[in-house]
Amino acid sequence: MNKLVSLTRNFSSSSSLNAIKTVTVIGGGLMGSGIAQVAAQAGQNVTIVDLKPELLENAQKSIQNNLRRVGKKTFKDDAAKIENFVKESTSRINTSTKVEDGVNADLIIEAIVEKLDVKQELFNKLDQLAPEHTILATNTSSISINAIGAGIKRKDRYGGLHFFNPVPVMRLLEVIKGDQISEATYQTLMEWGKSIGKTCITCKDTPGFVVNRLLGPYSAEAIRLYERGDASKEDIDIGMKLGAGYPMGPFELADYTGLDTNKFVMQVMYEQTKDPVFRPVPLLDKMVAEGKLGIKTGEGFYKYKKSNL
Ligand code: 3HC
Repeated sequence: MNKLVSLTRNFSSSSSLNAIKTVTVIGGGLMGSGIAQVAAQAGQNVTIVDLKPELLENAQKSIQNNLRRVGKKTFKDDAAKIENFVKESTSRINTSTKVEDGVNADLIIEAIVEKLDVKQELFNKLDQLAPEHTILATNTSSISINAIGAGIKRKDRYGGLHFFNPVPVMRLLEVIKGDQISEATYQTLMEWGKSIGKTCITCKDTPGFVVNRLLGPYSAEAIRLYERGDASKEDIDIGMKLGAGYPMGPFELADYTGLDTNKFVMQVMYEQTKDPVFRPVPLLDKMVAEGKLGIKTGEGFYKYKKSNL
């Protein structure tokens, strides 16, 4: 199915939703706002919760911009339809700085900072406050979902939903099975993924799940290749784009996702597996220490003009 048809179907199939009608996303950063956007454009009512009001404001702005991009793709030059799509989708999104305002939802997805103790505390609170039927999910990219949910009672109604950046564009959703997830919860999460236009794959709670388990060593090897002076970063990027069909080379991708994220994912996987493929990469550590985190800071492996940020 081409992208256009899939986006249109995504928007027009909003009425066929069954189980999950209301979604709360905790965390208004890049991933959280992307998740909120795809749920809202699929017809679901969404609440975004973030402690920082300025992040909620940014999230609303970026969602509007990205909805317009999706609208243009879906409705071509029909300005009225595009505006209607943006207006209807944004009208389904509420924001709050209080977790309590988001607990009455069918599905609550956490997309906050990647810190185990902070996530655990949030899930324990959500477990106490949310109604019985609410499913809790984490968008962690690399922390064990069993560890995050260790303190909750509703382990049968808990799982991982790992999205990819940029969420509105990337078609994959990894549905992660915790040790005690029920079949009904798993099926509901798979159905929900479909309802927001994603193709779902399933993985056990294993370090990096499927995609980051493979992307991690790939990215690390690319940096090591460059660090040794075997090839330039530009040539390595061209190599993987033209020789392997990747949309971005490994250095472009690292700048795009953020070098700090890259380092963190690798670090967590090294701690969990002790596999030397995830061992620290000195150049990556140095760049992160220097604050060269990629597009978001204006410099990573490449430099970025303000207009591209
Ligand atoms: N929202 C909506 N639409 C968007 C968008 C967004 N945030 N970003 C881009 N688009 C749309 C554009 O409007 C454009 O639409 P068009 O085809 O109708 O013109 C289309 O997507 C392509 O965008 P651009 O023309 O701006 O740029 P590119 O063609 O270079 O594509 C890209 C950009 C989609 C990011 C592409 O380079 C890509 O797929 N890169 C790889 C990204 C990737 O690997 N992501 C996974 C990272 S790993 C991860 O997320 C895991 C986590 O745990 C760390």
